Amino acid sequence: MAIAEPFRNHGCDFFVKFIEIFLSMNITFIGTGYVGLVSGIMLSYFGHNVTCLDTDKTKISKLKQGLLPIHEPGLEQYLAICTKEGRLNFADAYSQELQNSSAIFITVGTPSSPSGEADLKYVFEAIDNVSKWASVGCLIIIKSTVPLGTCNLIREYLETKNYKFHIAANPEFLREGCAVEDFLHPDRIIIGTNDEQSRKLLEEIYWSLTSQNVPLVNTDVSTAELIKYGSNAFLAIKIAFINEMANLCEKSGADIKKLSQGIGLDSRIGQKFLKAGPGFGGSCFPKDILALSHIAKKYQSVCRVLDAAIEANGERASDMVKKISEAIGGNLHDKNLAILGLAFKAGTDDVRSSSAIEIIKILQSQGANITAYDPVAITNALMLLPELQYANSAMNACNNADAVVIITEWPEFEQLDIDRLHAIMKSPTIIDLRNILNPEVVIQKGFKYYCIGGYMSALAKS
Ligand code: UDX
Repeated sequence: MAIAEPFRNHGCDFFVKFIEIFLSMNITFIGTGYVGLVSGIMLSYFGHNVTCLDTDKTKISKLKQGLLPIHEPGLEQYLAICTKEGRLNFADAYSQELQNSSAIFITVGTPSSPSGEADLKYVFEAIDNVSKWASVGCLIIIKSTVPLGTCNLIREYLETKNYKFHIAANPEFLREGCAVEDFLHPDRIIIGTNDEQSRKLLEEIYWSLTSQNVPLVNTDVSTAELIKYGSNAFLAIKIAFINEMANLCEKSGADIKKLSQGIGLDSRIGQKFLKAGPGFGGSCFPKDILALSHIAKKYQSVCRVLDAAIEANGERASDMVKKISEAIGGNLHDKNLAILGLAFKAGTDDVRSSSAIEIIKILQSQGANITAYDPVAITNALMLLPELQYANSAMNACNNADAVVIITEWPEFEQLDIDRLHAIMKSPTIIDLRNILNPEVVIQKGFKYYCIGGYMSALAKS
């Protein structure tokens, strides 16, 4: 595909060529994490000449061989196309090549510091390096999730050093596991700029999408920074809310699945992000809501709802352990538990702030024997839990188990051979923390079945 793809089907060949030549730009991405890699590859697919730069030499060497460092459905195919067409390059060091870029995206990590604030050391490291090599007047676009005021801070920092660059904020809303789809069909593009020239340049970069009627919100840099935190916080609050509703359902005998459906069909609320589960995790929500809470306090503007969501989600893992313990008679000591799922959600191998990891740690501290399985996340889990026993299949994990706990909603766990499972377990108990199994079926097969916020939990106990 190229920049002017939307016009290709209308037989406007000359116009297509014209737009391609006119809008194609040299762009560099600094940082090849999820956001940098997906955005870099996809902007190259849109017709731009993209270089992805990362100082991790192993990562870059693999990318040069066409190997992705992350599990992201569909991305490999776009990597191959763009590399073959010569519009995608990889670099493992800053060099004068950077002078050829009209736009440089900063997509490095902004981890939580011990206090919960976003740590900007990688952002400023990148800015220092970019300012040494990039051409004067070039546009530096902050795509990393950064606190309110960061772009202005960077601008002031560069001014003190007498460097003249334009700074823009362009937050990203990609979800792991469907990042390619999200990039191709975003709900909106947010462009935060404080000058006309930067706005125009960013509009040109995204022309392939805006020409297909993807809404574009033009705003100042600070508002753009806050939009990203506001979006993630709102979604996290939505999940924390539905999880607390699930607790209420369990106590009152109501059914969370029907409750979510009934609430979500109100178009003002929407069905998405209303699935109750073991708590939200991943590299963004937990970190970003903490950072936003800090930002609010810094501006003497307390966000009580946000703080409540942080607290509620913080207690979720121990609530889940309590649930597991109750399901197997109140004592975890020496119980064999099969854990199905280590990734923070299905579709990714990412285990950062995964509920599964938190739950396993608490279960282990209470003396449970754990065998865990995940279709793609074991390699990453090994780095956090090197001593844990891992199985090479769901069935092997469940062998001789007192209970099986489903924590990640992988489709293969929905398809478990229930009869075989019943035969190999020590005691047929399933604790389904994602509500993916059909309660009637498993109960009818003789399992004790516990789920999240369901009347079936009560039924299994009776
Ligand atoms: C999130 C945002 O969605 C994305 O816009 C942003 O760019 C990065 O952070 P991601 O971390 O990939 O994306 O995961 P997401 O799909 O949003 O899920 C986050 C967590 O919420 C997961 O742990 C997931 O299991 C949980 N979740 C999600 C629920 O528990 N219930 C839901 O209904 C939805």
